[in-house]
Amino acid sequence: MKGVRRIRSLLSGWRSWPTYLELMLAGELQSLQIRTDVTRDELFLLYRLAKSVRDGDIVEIGSYLGASACFLAAGAAKARASVYCIDTWKNDAMTEGPRDTFAEFVRNTEHHRSRIMPVRAWSTDAARELSVDVGLLFVDGDHSTDAVAADLRAWLPKVRTGGWLALHDSGWAEGVQAGIAGIVEPLRVGDPIQLPNLYVTRIRSPR
Ligand SMILES: C[S@@+](CC[C@H](N)C(=O)[O-])C[C@H]1O[C@@H](n2cnc3c(N)ncnc32)[C@H](O)[C@@H]1O
Repeated sequence: MKGVRRIRSLLSGWRSWPTYLELMLAGELQSLQIRTDVTRDELFLLYRLAKSVRDGDIVEIGSYLGASACFLAAGAAKARASVYCIDTWKNDAMTEGPRDTFAEFVRNTEHHRSRIMPVRAWSTDAARELSVDVGLLFVDGDHSTDAVAADLRAWLPKVRTGGWLALHDSGWAEGVQAGIAGIVEPLRVGDPIQLPNLYVTRIRSPR
């Protein structure tokens, strides 16, 4: 059984080899060492999405130690987009409890410092303060129902029609699932791309 699982995982891994190679040549594979719950497949998909952004910039809600930010920034470098990373960097809504994670984020994302704009604020406050045309919005902050709804209501109007929306922890977080069903699905354009814990779709902006 173990052997079958290993062969299956090797075969499914084939598809990500071109991405693996690209990231290796870009020197980005070191970022796989950053502590995170975002899996390698998810990080690779975020990279490919960021690379495909044609207009607008990239916004990430919930950056923590910078793992997903690095892969978004690696893709953004090809798309010539900026990445706005929004976080309190106080470990809000994290099971490991409050701590200041900003210095670690800055250290881990140092090689992308010309592309990443850290915005140290509550996500909904940042939406009021930042004027940005968004080509890809990645939501990975507080996963409670109210917080996800507030993030989506604050940020979706800034996403361009046809822009990408990605939500992490869609596989288990009920708040994320409620946001997808109640807010995202009516705005969805085309079929979503789904990994077990990452939901991605193009959307029609509600603005
Ligand atoms: C799950 S972690 C993000 C993981 C990250 N994407 C990665 O690559 O590892 C969630 C982050 O969201 C931040 N956060 C939670 N609620 C927030 C809010 N309302 N506004 C801003 N940041 C928030 C936390 O401080 C934490 O760093």
